[in-house]
Amino acid sequence: MKIARHFAALLLSLPLAGLAEAQDALRGQALAERWCANCHVVSRTATTGRSDGLPTFPALAARKDVTAATLKGAMTATHSRMPDFQLGARDQEDLVAYIFSLRTQ
Ligand code: HEC
Repeated sequence: MKIARHFAALLLSLPLAGLAEAQDALRGQALAERWCANCHVVSRTATTGRSDGLPTFPALAARKDVTAATLKGAMTATHSRMPDFQLGARDQEDLVAYIFSLRTQ
């Protein structure tokens, strides 16, 4: 009985966690389209990017060395031609959630 209840609670909590993550990623996508798409290819569906060697977001997501910490670092340090967006913590989290949602595996 105890195990069954535990299992039910687990089943209930899974979709909720997934939903919150999806919402963060959705918000992150809107931020990316607004603030990052001028320079970066931000969507998974784009097959061609700018030819100036800027990392696309799907490419960043695929890189093994890219973590939430390195992404946030890149967002906050003004990377060369990138303006200082003064992104808040929430915005950074959501952008990271969006970029990681592009991971294929
Ligand atoms: C004005 C152009 C511009 C905009 C807008 C821009 N970036 Fe960049 N970004 C660059 C350039 C140029 C690079 C290449 C690295 C460099 O030159 O420092 C880069 C690289 C990166 C990298 C990779 C760093 C690495 O480790 O390779 C990340 C992550 C990144 N940008 C995130 C973002 C995010 C998130 C946004 C939106 C909030 C954004 N960028 C908006 C120009 C831009």
